[in-house]
Amino acid sequence: MKPKLSASIMCANFCSLEEDIRQLEEAGIDYLHFDIMDGHFVPNFTMGPDILRMVRRITSLPFDTHLMIENPDRYIPIFVEAGSNLIFVHIEACIHMNRTIQLIKKSGAKAGVALNPSTPLCRLDYVLEDVSAVLLMTVNPGFAGQKLVSGAISKIENMKRMIEDRKVKVDIEVDGNVSFANAPLMAKAGADILVCGTSSIFKPGLGIKEGVKKLTLTLSRL
Ligand code: DX5
Ligand code: ZN
Repeated sequence: MKPKLSASIMCANFCSLEEDIRQLEEAGIDYLHFDIMDGHFVPNFTMGPDILRMVRRITSLPFDTHLMIENPDRYIPIFVEAGSNLIFVHIEACIHMNRTIQLIKKSGAKAGVALNPSTPLCRLDYVLEDVSAVLLMTVNPGFAGQKLVSGAISKIENMKRMIEDRKVKVDIEVDGNVSFANAPLMAKAGADILVCGTSSIFKPGLGIKEGVKKLTLTLSRL
């Protein structure tokens, strides 16, 4: 099954964001991925809920919001009210994971859990049944333009196996260096949603429509 594509908005051109969103819609992207960073959980800052509120006014595409922040419970209702349909929190940032998952659902969004590259899959043992999706970081979180960490593809395969063994309906979202070369490997390994940034659809000099077309063509050959 061809994976869905989630466009990483932190890689868009903020000087012409509405134009980029229009091009993403016309190119047939499935989700908009908002990387939220607080300068604590990751050494970078990106955007706040106001960007989601503004973008929500111009598109009905589903928002896939990735909270790379400490103390996410405090901000989950705000990002749902701002337009998020699916919210990923990092398991490494949550003390009471079940309570956080329940808060996301109670606030009106689907719940997802994100893992940094070195976080073992066993951290999901007691939450996998409660989430809609798991996000596997395939680069160290915080910056676009990085290279795949070693072991990333086999981690996706192991995640797929864990989902099949547990007979749960959970999507695998992959985030980081989803390039034209890596995307087919990630899809074959079991990825259901690919977060596409500067390695593919926002590749400098390529153009969004051409990037989506090239990625879609690459994945259609699976
Ligand atoms: C890392 C970011 C990146 C970005 C994707 O924290 O989440 O994964 O959105 O962009 P590239 O394709 O440059 O990795
Ligand atoms: Zn992300």
